[in-house]
Amino acid sequence: MQIFERINGFYLQNKKIFTNFAPEMSWEILNNYPKEQICIVSDKSLIRHAQWSAMPELADIPVLWLEVSEATKSLDTVAQIWDFMFAHHLTRRGLLICVGGGILTDLGGFAAATYKRGIQYINIPSTLLAMVDASSGGKTGINYRGLKNAIGAFAPPADTLIDPKWLKTLPAAQFLSGFAEILKTGLIERPDLLWDRLLQYDLDTMPLDSLTPMIEQCVAIKERIVQADPNEKGLRKALNFGHTFGHAIEEISISNAPISHGYAVVYGLIAELYLSVTKLGCPKEPLQQLTQLMLHYYGRPNCKCSDMEPLIALMQQDKKNERAAEINCTLIRSVGDPVINQVISPDDAREALDYLFSL
Ligand code: GLY
Repeated sequence: MQIFERINGFYLQNKKIFTNFAPEMSWEILNNYPKEQICIVSDKSLIRHAQWSAMPELADIPVLWLEVSEATKSLDTVAQIWDFMFAHHLTRRGLLICVGGGILTDLGGFAAATYKRGIQYINIPSTLLAMVDASSGGKTGINYRGLKNAIGAFAPPADTLIDPKWLKTLPAAQFLSGFAEILKTGLIERPDLLWDRLLQYDLDTMPLDSLTPMIEQCVAIKERIVQADPNEKGLRKALNFGHTFGHAIEEISISNAPISHGYAVVYGLIAELYLSVTKLGCPKEPLQQLTQLMLHYYGRPNCKCSDMEPLIALMQQDKKNERAAEINCTLIRSVGDPVINQVISPDDAREALDYLFSL
């Protein structure tokens, strides 16, 4: 399969990012695994990007093509991947290569983490969201009984191979969805590393290539945080900024008009920036700046006032909470100064949602 020929961006191995990744390096990586012990799992929508002729050595690696959506991020799909690996007699020395967006890498990573108590896997993210967030750091899992990522495991990939050229395959909405995670990372890091540059970045006119340094920066920031706190006991919670409200908004949208993760994260960031201002005295500028970006690129959330109480109930069930029924957020004191474990009341949540819905 020619997938590796596409990879001349950079890859992440043993906490290092290598730029100018050459296709030959894929051999170096794959040589660590018996050839007949490798399977690929990918997203059906990427079939047209897979070319089988250029690397005959890889052409006979079996590929499982999956229907990928939030609705299929389920145990049934994980079972399909397990069945595929059993059918190809993968042992514990086997390797699963996951090619796709964040849902696919979460599913594949979880299947690999649980198959025969865990085998190695490699991620090749095809979306911006997966490049800057989902494909590194080892969070894997599925949705369960309407709750996003409620079942899963921390299981880091052996490698993540990132080729920004995949971005050319992305529809605008998916691109914006990934950009939201870059915005989040910008807000929790020193402003000179990312946020200041993001404010100058014009998505309408800048060439895609100019995004590569920001992708690298995001991956490096995330990797540094994850190394310090792989199992999210403390510091890693900073990466959840915007996600307490964001996940609830994403979940509730499933029964209205489903929105993608990144759009929900932007709305969540607005609500949590609002609380950062009112509860921690964060300056108003980042809230105003993000509001401008939201209105220009993402539009308003399509929530209704009647969604308010269900949103609060969803936040009270968030898996990130330390105690049942509380609402736990990461907020910021200023750009680059995240504060984790901020418990907010339902009234605080209502006020932040009121603000968001009033924009
Ligand atoms: N998506 C946030 C994390 O990986 O911790």
